[in-house]
Amino acid sequence: MNNLALETPDEAKDLLNDRCDSDLISWLDQRMDSLVKEIEQQEFWIILTSPETDPRFLQTMMREIYIEIFSYQPHAIEGAITAIAQMPRSMPVRMIKAMLRHQAEEFDHGEMALRDYVALGGDEQHARERHRISPASYAVAALWNMIADQRDPFAYLGALYPFEGLTPIVSAKAKDILLRRGFPAEALEFVEFHSTEDPKHTELVRHLIEETVGRYPEAEASIQAGLDRFLAIYPIPVWRTAYERACAAHSASRGPVF
Ligand SMILES: [Fe+2]
Ligand SMILES: [Fe+2]
Repeated sequence: MNNLALETPDEAKDLLNDRCDSDLISWLDQRMDSLVKEIEQQEFWIILTSPETDPRFLQTMMREIYIEIFSYQPHAIEGAITAIAQMPRSMPVRMIKAMLRHQAEEFDHGEMALRDYVALGGDEQHARERHRISPASYAVAALWNMIADQRDPFAYLGALYPFEGLTPIVSAKAKDILLRRGFPAEALEFVEFHSTEDPKHTELVRHLIEETVGRYPEAEASIQAGLDRFLAIYPIPVWRTAYERACAAHSASRGPVF
């Protein structure tokens, strides 16, 4: 839209909203790019991607990542659905339906992670009854519920963007490496599923964010805060926890990781 063509305050408002939308989306994408670079510098990523690493260690590390997912995932769903229920009543019902449908699709993904955990030799009873949620996953579980407790539902969309957007990027990189190192395909249900489904979820969240900020410009600050808070606790602390537990388990039973 050309400035000269602006004739009504509504047109000016639309232009401003469009500009805010694209600025916000490029800000979100810049944060994602720098997050991927930060992940690639982590010790756990260097070990995961090194051809020198014992393939059995890769299985142990993925097993520990799966139990982390299993431990925070149901709490994330609970907090997310509560936050969706707190969206403004002026929001179109089709947007609420899209958000709830998405969470319904996520509903049993903790169970999906548990199946992969068991396929890698994990004990289901241990996971369900004895495993204590790690501090890192506790923080992830708490974040979604805190969004709901603070009644700041727009922050939900900001946290959701990297939660959905990161998985396909990392899954695609990790899947190739794992398969080349003889990782059992039957323990890749979670990774396989998310490498194809989460790009669609990321697109959905992107559209929801754009429409939300178009309708409620004040949502932008909450969306940014939601993303910032989430990236302070996910994924690096969670994956580092899994890596450290895998190192301890591996060296106790088999010796060095390399
Ligand atoms: Fe999922
Ligand atoms: Fe997803």
